[in-house]
Amino acid sequence: MKIAVIGTGYVGLVSGCCFAEWGHEVVCVDKNAEKISGLRQGRLPIYEPGLDELLERNAAAGRLSFTCDVAEAVKDAAAVFIAVGTPPRPGHGDADLSFVYMAAKEIAPLLADNAVVVVKSTVPVGTGDAVEKIIVTERGRGTFSVASNPEFLREGVAIRDFLEPDRVVIGVVDERAREVLTTIYGEPLAKTNSPIVVTERRTSELIKYAANAFLATKITFINELADLCEQVGSDVEELALGVGLDKRIGASFLNAGPGYGGSCFPKDTLALLRTAQDHGVALRIVEEAVSVNDARKRKMALKVMDAVGGDIDGLTVAVFGLTFKPDTDDMREAPSVPLIETLQRFGAVMRAHDPIGMKNAAQMLENVEFFEDPYECARDADAIVIVTEWDSIQRLDLVRLRRMMRSPNLVDLRGVFKAGRAEAAGFHFSAVGRPT
Ligand code: UGA
Repeated sequence: MKIAVIGTGYVGLVSGCCFAEWGHEVVCVDKNAEKISGLRQGRLPIYEPGLDELLERNAAAGRLSFTCDVAEAVKDAAAVFIAVGTPPRPGHGDADLSFVYMAAKEIAPLLADNAVVVVKSTVPVGTGDAVEKIIVTERGRGTFSVASNPEFLREGVAIRDFLEPDRVVIGVVDERAREVLTTIYGEPLAKTNSPIVVTERRTSELIKYAANAFLATKITFINELADLCEQVGSDVEELALGVGLDKRIGASFLNAGPGYGGSCFPKDTLALLRTAQDHGVALRIVEEAVSVNDARKRKMALKVMDAVGGDIDGLTVAVFGLTFKPDTDDMREAPSVPLIETLQRFGAVMRAHDPIGMKNAAQMLENVEFFEDPYECARDADAIVIVTEWDSIQRLDLVRLRRMMRSPNLVDLRGVFKAGRAEAAGFHFSAVGRPT
């Protein structure tokens, strides 16, 4: 099937490459000429493990191409996926839909008859209706469909999430859209036994937000339980195991830490709250999750201050891991940023190491010295704080690290190290949700 994907951001690129991997003929479009010319030469604008191979293989096979010319991409496409950004609106935090609407307006006169326009960007309920209205205004009624097909990719494991999803959700209001989308996904997903949930368009839009809000709440729940564990002498990792093996609860997303970040949970929870507010409904659990999570990121600074004995003024702190999670260079809403800024306000001298994220971090943080080498980063430090659980950080030689430091404080916000191992290496160890 011929597919056009509008927008070569994270979602657009992963989707485009994966559709091509399934054998579809895919054209990805972006206004940014530099990006398109880079992609034509096999250069990716984002970091995602395995994506470079997919790009190379499918471009070489002639199934995947890139253009700035929307008309060329759209003219005979059976499905046109809108995968443009919906960044947080400054001052509001919820989704800015102007790029989605601009894309709808631009493709409207160019669509082939019976084309299905599929909104893949994360958009609030009712956006499909608005997109349909825009296209009707531009082109008249009847010869196209608008569907919703939210994505549930996690950065870092996006390709597996796309090719072997837990489920695919399709929201349609007509038979044509159902047919086209089940043709695109049907055969490959039959091989992985992944169900396709076909719903009405508005339900599909809401499923995306409900899923992210639930996961954000689940993380916040375990984070608060972690606080309790510290006070009563329990271990949150064991608690999560004991609770999560109940199939009704599920073991994933019960890792306690410094609070969730990233480009999705913070934005999507706020957007959901906005939708609820607009319709006079109170989503109090989600409201609490958002405010508890915001406060938690700053609260982690107190943990570090406790570890060094209270007064951190003039002490040197080395932060290991800056990105909002491992295997990405994404710094959006990363807990490391409020943590570092809070410690700086209390007079700490900050250094940091991250395997991939330092370039992006340098644009967000001031007065932080960055180190490629974690051991150099630890030199003469009074505390190391683990904020992101990169593999390379988990593999660090603790004895060697300890020897580099002025004071042996290790604060592990991600449950990376066991207390016994850290203490055997000579550290004074503190962690989230574990008695120390
Ligand atoms: C999230 C969802 O997991 C995806 O399903 C969804 O498609 C995506 O948002 C999106 O809406 O586009 P992502 O933001 O890439 O994916 O990252 P996650 O792996 O979900 O992690 C989000 C944050 O939660 C990270 O800061 C992570 O460290 C934190 N987290 C996650 C925890 O603190 N504990 C956990 O147990 C799991």
